[in-house]
Amino acid sequence: MTARVRVTYATLSADNEDLHTSYEEGLRVAKSWLGATIPTKVAGEARTAGAAFAVTSPSDTAIRLCTAHAATPEDTDDAVRSAAAAFGRWRRTPWAERVALLRRAADLISERAPELAALMSMEVGKNRLEALGDVEESADLIRYYCDQYEAADGFTAPMDTLSPAETTSSVLRPYGPWAVISPFNFPMALAAGPAGAALVAGNPVLIKPSPQGTFTAAKLHDCLIDAGIPAGVAHLLPGGDEVGQALVEHDGVAGLTFTGSTATGALVRARFSRRFPKPVITETGGKNAAVVTASADLAVAAAGVARSAFGLSGQKCSACSRVYVQREVVDDFLAALAAEADALVVGDPTQRAVFLGPVIDAAAVARYTAAVDHAREHGRIVVGGDVLRPDEGRSRGHFVTPTVVTGLPADDPLLRDELFVPFVAVVAVDSLDEAITLANATDYGLTAGFFSGDDAEIERFLDEIEAGVVYVNRAAGATTGAWPGVQPFGGWKGSGSSGKAGGGPHYVQLYLREQSRTVVA
Ligand code: ALA
Repeated sequence: MTARVRVTYATLSADNEDLHTSYEEGLRVAKSWLGATIPTKVAGEARTAGAAFAVTSPSDTAIRLCTAHAATPEDTDDAVRSAAAAFGRWRRTPWAERVALLRRAADLISERAPELAALMSMEVGKNRLEALGDVEESADLIRYYCDQYEAADGFTAPMDTLSPAETTSSVLRPYGPWAVISPFNFPMALAAGPAGAALVAGNPVLIKPSPQGTFTAAKLHDCLIDAGIPAGVAHLLPGGDEVGQALVEHDGVAGLTFTGSTATGALVRARFSRRFPKPVITETGGKNAAVVTASADLAVAAAGVARSAFGLSGQKCSACSRVYVQREVVDDFLAALAAEADALVVGDPTQRAVFLGPVIDAAAVARYTAAVDHAREHGRIVVGGDVLRPDEGRSRGHFVTPTVVTGLPADDPLLRDELFVPFVAVVAVDSLDEAITLANATDYGLTAGFFSGDDAEIERFLDEIEAGVVYVNRAAGATTGAWPGVQPFGGWKGSGSSGKAGGGPHYVQLYLREQSRTVVA
């Protein structure tokens, strides 16, 4: 048996033989799961009355990974009622016991990492190393929220008293049933993080994964239940928008975390709080910029941008999609970035050499094709721009090539709209001022990267850039790859609602409300 190797995005190494060996073992296990039925899970009961939907692999759409059953309106209602019934006992469970259960869940996730990662590669097209990172991030997010709970001694703090007869305190308390609506691109971490925070805080959870990440999310739900979290406290509600909408509309859902598009996030926020303000955390889109000055190490900048623009085929809210480069170095930077892009292998993401798996579906290919056509007309394709057809050896998968464009006008929609495909635009600028102004000229504010060898420039960028997560001179990722407890991850402006970042010191408190207590003896 191979020893488990701990992974973070920053330490992922393609040369780590142990990682590859354990992943390959995991792939054999994950393949033995194919063809499974994934039911809705209400209080531990497997329900299959809802419409069946197939989850196929974006690498080969002829491969049916599983057949899932969507939650019916009755399933959703039953799950919310069950969660409400379980809430009293769960919130009264001493927080240290909740922490112990959640830590057990995190350990199970880590133990099962190779097979969970391999399943994720097949289900959403994530390459081996990034899939392992997503699984380990899930475990570390849960561990981090447990650490926070312990460090804050359960979020109970004594307060001043006005009389010796009084005892006063501030206590953070949970809200009740909490819905977690998670996306396909981090099918474990973006379900495990919010669910872990909600659970450790004493809120039962209702997990509604993206249909395209259903199988992986169901395996996460198994880890929670196998760790001993009561079935009434963690429900799984597969399905599409109709299930998400039923949760948003349900008066019994006390809090909600949504990760997805900015437009849907705004609708969710308004609708969920239609009767009175309820806690709703929306983590949404990005149009993330990197800035490269004339003093930068261009090799580091090109590596960081390539990794962030093309990791998971550009389908991360944190992906880099715009690069502002000082004019005197733009040609050299473009050459270095094109070389990085050319070197990336596109193909089956379970294979060792592959960096870019497929994009998630035909709609993503259509978005890519439209962007490429527009860039040909209004700018210049430096590298990429191709959809790989089945006769090019990739049977029935959604494969496209990493694409770098330049020469677009400043107000071009490709520099404004989130694309969620492997496509990055490079723009020449005359000054750092201009670069910062352009980088900030967006409704989004999630991540940003900066490459410079000048301390004064770095200070200036950090002070002026409007983004929640900022990286300087990072070859491991210009704008991507945040790790729990290391880089708190959350967006400003249209990229996020809470102002408090996941995996950071202020996040778990979002799942709690304050009660001020005065007891007179
Ligand atoms: N945590 C992910 C990243 O930083 C979204 O890329």
